[in-house]
Amino acid sequence: MKGRLDKVLATCRLISRTDAQAALKAGRVTVDGTAVRDGKVKVDSDAQMILLDGVRVEGDGFVYLMLYKPVGVLSATEDKRGAITAMDLLPEEYRKAAPGVVGRLDKDAEGLLLLTNNGELNHRLTSPKHHADKLYRVTLDLPATEEDVRAFAEPMDLGDFTTQPGKLELLEDGKTALVTIHEGKFHQIKRMFQHQGKTVQTLKRLSIGPLRLDEALADGAWRPLSGEEVRALLAAADMM
Ligand code: URA
Repeated sequence: MKGRLDKVLATCRLISRTDAQAALKAGRVTVDGTAVRDGKVKVDSDAQMILLDGVRVEGDGFVYLMLYKPVGVLSATEDKRGAITAMDLLPEEYRKAAPGVVGRLDKDAEGLLLLTNNGELNHRLTSPKHHADKLYRVTLDLPATEEDVRAFAEPMDLGDFTTQPGKLELLEDGKTALVTIHEGKFHQIKRMFQHQGKTVQTLKRLSIGPLRLDEALADGAWRPLSGEEVRALLAAADMM
């Protein structure tokens, strides 16, 4: 979104119009790293990094983040039994924006977690209709074989549901592999390997649709998505 900074802030759902004026005056709004107090300044929220209290203001007013979920952290926004959740790894400002997790990742798995308060995008990316491919890297107890590659490429009957055809690529000695699946049913990849007589030892999500885990992101770290990454996700979900 292009236009006056106060207008861009007013369309963002993080703050009311009146509070936006106060936030500007207080120097809580930065554009490309510099505090801007004048709401009349012309900005482009796609090309520039506009932050309110450190939270990225996207042109459409939603919050989009990627988090490198560490092993042991729940891919949930809260846990009644007090376990550490993805939300606990975010600063207060982002927690207030109440982003939801797009697609579960098991507690013992790590890697890309997408968080957004854009509910429509979340729904579409997790609905099998839109086929947002998820890519994972796994390590196994036994080497996967060409027979497993063929089995993953066909619908696999797991009892309570049948998978859509996926893709298995063997790396190194076959004990490491890349897996692409379309759905994200509970323990799906672990169950697919179990079906083939193998046990998943480690599982790391590398991408969701066009969004790849930023390799510069440390375990447990997060960053806002760039405008380009958001647009690619919206396009993949037929929302552009
Ligand atoms: N498949 C699994 O088994 N676990 C995940 O967390 C994701 C896909």
